[in-house]
Amino acid sequence: MADALISVLLEQLTSVVYEHTKEAVTLVLNAEKDVESFSNKLKAIQAVLEDAEKKQVTEARVGCWLEKLKDVSYEMDDVLDEWSTEILRQQVEEKQEEEAENASVAKKKVCFPIRYDCFCFGQVNKAIHHHNIARRIKELNEKLTLIAAEKEMYGFHQSTKRGPDEQLIQRQKTTSLVDISKIFGREEEKEILLCKLLRESSQEGERFLVIPIVGMGGMGKTTLTQLVYNHEKVTAHFDKKVWVCVSDPFDENKIAKAIIESLDKNETQKSSIELETLLLWIKTHVENKKLLLVLDDVWTEDQTKWENLKLPVIMQSCAEGSTILVTTRKQEVAKMMGATNSMIHLDILNDKDCLALFNSIAFLDREKDESNEFEAIGAEIVKKCKGLPLIVKTLSSLVRYKKTKEEWRDVLNSKIWELEEVEEQVFRPLLLSYYDLAPTVKPCLLYCATFPKDHEFDKNNLLELWMSQGYLSWKKNHEKRRIGLNYFESLVTRSFFQDFVKDYKGNIIGCKMHDIVHDFVQFLTRKECMIAEVVEGANQRIELACDMVRHLTLVTPVGPFAFPTSFNNCKNLRTLTILDSRMTTISPSSILQMKCLRTLNLSGNILKELPRELGELIHLRYMDLSSSKALKELPDAVCDLFNLQTLVLDWCRKLEKLPKAMGKLINLRHLYVGCCNKLKYLPKEIGSLKSLKALDCFYVCDHGDEEGKDEVMKLGDLGIMDQIQGTLWIVRLGNAKDAGEVEKAQLRNKKHLSVLGLDFQNGNEEQRKSDEEILKALQPHQNLESLSIWYCHCTTWSLYRIKSLHNLRRVVLRYWKFCDLLPPLGKLPSLEILEIFSMHNVKKVGVDFLGIEEGIETGGILFPKLKDLQFVDMPNWEEWEGIIKDSFDITIMPLLSSLGIDGCPKLKGLPHLLHKITALRTLTIEDCAILERDYKKGMGKEWPKISHIPDITISGT
Ligand SMILES: *[C@@H]1O[C@H](CO)[C@@H](O)[C@H](O)[C@H]1NC(C)=O
Ligand SMILES: *[C@@H]1O[C@H](CO)[C@@H](O)[C@H](O)[C@H]1NC(C)=O
Ligand SMILES: *[C@@H]1O[C@H](CO)[C@@H](O)[C@H](O)[C@H]1NC(C)=O
Repeated sequence: MADALISVLLEQLTSVVYEHTKEAVTLVLNAEKDVESFSNKLKAIQAVLEDAEKKQVTEARVGCWLEKLKDVSYEMDDVLDEWSTEILRQQVEEKQEEEAENASVAKKKVCFPIRYDCFCFGQVNKAIHHHNIARRIKELNEKLTLIAAEKEMYGFHQSTKRGPDEQLIQRQKTTSLVDISKIFGREEEKEILLCKLLRESSQEGERFLVIPIVGMGGMGKTTLTQLVYNHEKVTAHFDKKVWVCVSDPFDENKIAKAIIESLDKNETQKSSIELETLLLWIKTHVENKKLLLVLDDVWTEDQTKWENLKLPVIMQSCAEGSTILVTTRKQEVAKMMGATNSMIHLDILNDKDCLALFNSIAFLDREKDESNEFEAIGAEIVKKCKGLPLIVKTLSSLVRYKKTKEEWRDVLNSKIWELEEVEEQVFRPLLLSYYDLAPTVKPCLLYCATFPKDHEFDKNNLLELWMSQGYLSWKKNHEKRRIGLNYFESLVTRSFFQDFVKDYKGNIIGCKMHDIVHDFVQFLTRKECMIAEVVEGANQRIELACDMVRHLTLVTPVGPFAFPTSFNNCKNLRTLTILDSRMTTISPSSILQMKCLRTLNLSGNILKELPRELGELIHLRYMDLSSSKALKELPDAVCDLFNLQTLVLDWCRKLEKLPKAMGKLINLRHLYVGCCNKLKYLPKEIGSLKSLKALDCFYVCDHGDEEGKDEVMKLGDLGIMDQIQGTLWIVRLGNAKDAGEVEKAQLRNKKHLSVLGLDFQNGNEEQRKSDEEILKALQPHQNLESLSIWYCHCTTWSLYRIKSLHNLRRVVLRYWKFCDLLPPLGKLPSLEILEIFSMHNVKKVGVDFLGIEEGIETGGILFPKLKDLQFVDMPNWEEWEGIIKDSFDITIMPLLSSLGIDGCPKLKGLPHLLHKITALRTLTIEDCAILERDYKKGMGKEWPKISHIPDITISGT
């Protein structure tokens, strides 16, 4: 823990000394010396930290010493950050003065109005402030002297670890994903389970069965359950399957809602409805259906909670043979459900299966003969895993990157094994993996403790959070995102993360953390991270030592509520997350108590306004206000957050305007403003933010009715923002009239942009005649990988130079009102996914779609990489002509594996070309009356033409 913090701080110290002495901000003379002396002492301490971390488990006073060390380190971090912020403030001030001068040269003499009143220090104040910083540094330095002296009492050993960077680099080369799809052992349990699920007749006269799968964390309960849940026989046997992750706390409403959501995606709005109503809804929707309900990870033994859910009543109304599968760590849960008879106990894996699992990972990419040398040690390590598959997985991932036998033996003989405590019994192997992480990666892992169990991490979001806490290296010249990606990768390969979510390119974009790993990181951070539940009614008392809490997550099953003032004495908070916050107010005094905040998440709140005191949280780097339901504007003071890197505002449906002076946020890297329907425009100053890397949405303003024209960011202002990366949506493009202005946006120079969305809504009919011109002027860079075009009034395609986009992997077209021919896309060499929605005018899809210009082409492959093709909502589509005259020697869509047609009632048939596509595995037809009749499974007259496709779903049959 401490070493994680200190390695981050040391990097910061080094750069502070180096950078700040160059800067104009001179503190009282001795400050730099004090920093240097502090830094030297810290280095000496760092050398023994590894030993100290291990000793603290058995020696309480070592624990105390580490706590003191951490406090001083945190405080130093704050002081240094204040110092840096001071420098930033000067930079902003200079920039503004320069701009003002320029403006006054350009226009007539105008008095510059924006001075620093809110953050204002006059020269005198400034000097006092500087003195203050210098004094605090001196005090901290003295404190550390005492701590350093105390260290001698404990006789720590110096560690001889390699430097963090060296380690990281070495690992990077060998990383490849460990994603184990094969399950080792468990054949017997699987058979028993399948047998119970697929039972023909009722047993002992029961209409339904509850099957608890019981076993300790890390035993593979969920893995086994997933395996049978996805088994094809099980899928065929049940009418409805529902998977709900229950976890702790057991919340009946949440579970009922999750069931509903799983049964019908449309029913997500039922947020405020009573349990009774929810249950009734479920009952009517599963009546007489054969239902398989999985409740994953149940903890509660509380009989009343279970009874509230009334599942037995619901199950009685289902078809005979319906089943509830429950996974839990506790036998008591099975007892509570009255289902001990059908319980399946998952015991430890036998040695043989453990070894097989271990070998499958540890020797994944090793040469055969080389492996033999290690096998004996591997077998010894497996014995220590006590049959827990998770631990086998963790350790095998760990040794996989160890090159020498000595390193393997080190893992085997490590002292940490000898710890006796129960918690450590389970955590032992994890601790080992933890100690093996580079010190700079450790805090990144620990930060995950601020999220509740079963949270699905979004990779980008996680990187931004790490960045906000200062974990991603202070060094300049290093791309922070790159560093973050390496750290993430490093955690992935060590099995700290799992259940990966991947994007269309197969890159990991999200993941979860195994329960036991989560328990583990919470165990390590138990003093610093706190997850608390807001209790209804009065302000609750916080019993914990608030000073120590650095990261606070409030879970709020109740609401609406005001921010509880009882948390006001948590003065050292660096993270405040309010999950699903239905918060109505947060008082200025609460805000002012949280001056150390780096990260603030108030997503989902119902605040009408934010206190302007927010501007005083000078350390703040990450602010998530997304889905604020009532917020109309942000206080101008937000622009004083010079350190702010990430501002998340998407889904703020009431937000009308952003502060004008956003140009002051010189460190802003990520600005998310998607789906803010009321937002008319972005402020012009955003265009000048050199650090801005991510801007997810640009709003084209209808200039006509806007008074403050000068404040409006125009499309042309995007022209100088060639640094933006990732995804950009340009919306209300229908408002754009002037193709010249559009051209100035210079999309063709945005080479880091990989996803572009163009939404043409808005604008009157007259204006919309220029859609075609506008589209032409938006020609993107060749690196573009995904392109969506919505609500465009174009008719012809030849104008649009889409053909030159040869890196395009995905195209989505939606609602082209006047379009009667599909665009010729067959020649796009990289196109993998094509989705076409709501082309209401299209009657025929012909050879033009394939990209063949009549009479010219012979030979070649069309849609050479296409894997997934979807047509949705094409009410007038009648004919799909897919074959060209036989004389042409042309291959079409050779790799197509998934085809979906939904809402095309007039479509008369599928093209012959499907016959030739051997890759085709999935065909889905929904809401297409004629196709449903003619291609009906086993009966339709055209059925033989598609019967070779393995996975066919046709609605209405
Ligand atoms: C002000 O004008 C100067 C000279 O024209 C130019 O170099 C500078 O970039 C301008 N500064 C700002 C902040 O616009
Ligand atoms: C969900 O809503 C859509 C559009 O509102 C509707 O077409 C569809 O049938 C609904 N699905 C279900 C399962 O009710
Ligand atoms: C912020 O809170 C929302 C829910 O309220 C959650 O979905 C999101 O993941 C949180 N984000 C961060 C960065 O903590």
